[in-house]
Amino acid sequence: MAEQPELGEEIVPGALEFSPDQLLAEDSYEEPLIAAGVRCHGGYIAGRYVSPRGRVRRPAIANWQRRLHDAREPLVHIPDRYVPPNYPNYEQAKFLLKEGITEPITRSLTIISIIEGFGARIRDLPVPDLSAQVKDDIQGTALAHLTGGLFEAHARDEAGHRDQGGHKQMWEAARDLGLDKPHIPGDVLMRLMSGSGRGRGERLFPELGEKMEALITTMANVLVVETFAENTFNWAQALLGDPDVSAHAADAAHMVACIAADEIPHVDYLTTAMSELRARTLISEDGLKEFQGSEVVDAIFSRQLRGMATRRPQENRERLREEIHQAIDDKARATRIARKFEDLDSGWSFPHTDDEQLELLLETR
Ligand SMILES: [Fe+2]
Ligand SMILES: [Fe+2]
Repeated sequence: MAEQPELGEEIVPGALEFSPDQLLAEDSYEEPLIAAGVRCHGGYIAGRYVSPRGRVRRPAIANWQRRLHDAREPLVHIPDRYVPPNYPNYEQAKFLLKEGITEPITRSLTIISIIEGFGARIRDLPVPDLSAQVKDDIQGTALAHLTGGLFEAHARDEAGHRDQGGHKQMWEAARDLGLDKPHIPGDVLMRLMSGSGRGRGERLFPELGEKMEALITTMANVLVVETFAENTFNWAQALLGDPDVSAHAADAAHMVACIAADEIPHVDYLTTAMSELRARTLISEDGLKEFQGSEVVDAIFSRQLRGMATRRPQENRERLREEIHQAIDDKARATRIARKFEDLDSGWSFPHTDDEQLELLLETR
């Protein structure tokens, strides 16, 4: 993953309070990032890509994390062994492309771009009155800045803002560069919307305010998606960066590397906010009961992680098998290709049974 360069910090060292404008402030780019003719966010300084809205956001998140570290509070963390590999894997995807079966890969990349665009919904997530439902002080935390710039910056990164494209447009550009402007099936969005629902399930802590549980659940979901995405980035960089199957390998791979770099602050601020909640005491909606934040966050996080690590790979498998058959008219050829495709499968299953507790998280950095 691309490294973030160290840039001049213009905030007071150790500062913990920021305005929304500060958290959205940009670095002084020398060149813009243009993706397939579309002006995108971020830009170049001394020839290196620098992610958007990071001038203050980057040191701010580092300061909040340092505060947790100084208080000896661990950061939530998803171990690598819980992260499913991308499906199809690189060999499978390359095999399809070499066989001239582009549509399933076009669909996968288009779905990624659409889901990135949906990421903008985080700015509409209702946040409860944290001062009433969190017992301890939250001043000077990422938690206190969720609606004060962090969610907004995240939304803009994913869906673009005004005249600047975001990840949605950048994934489209990577796809079009790599697969040479492939035909985009008209029903990608419709099929995505009619896929299995991703409901939140039963309330785990019904005594907590509904908004509080929904906030933790959504943040856990987004953190899981962002963490799982790392494998997708590696996959896309390898595939779209492979001149055997990619029309503009270097440019396509660079675009994916830029997106991957931009995701770092998303993982970092969500990790920080979840860890801050974990370190505090939560108060029930009626004010009568208290919960350890760690109990609540760990239980919700584990459930969401387990659900997504088991359900998503299965759904992807089923969808892709269907698409391969649909993409090939000749039945005998479809069967032959599907068999070879299966042979290339690296296989993966979630390493824990249902009743086993997850060794989640908790990394003291
Ligand atoms: Fe993104
Ligand atoms: Fe993201």
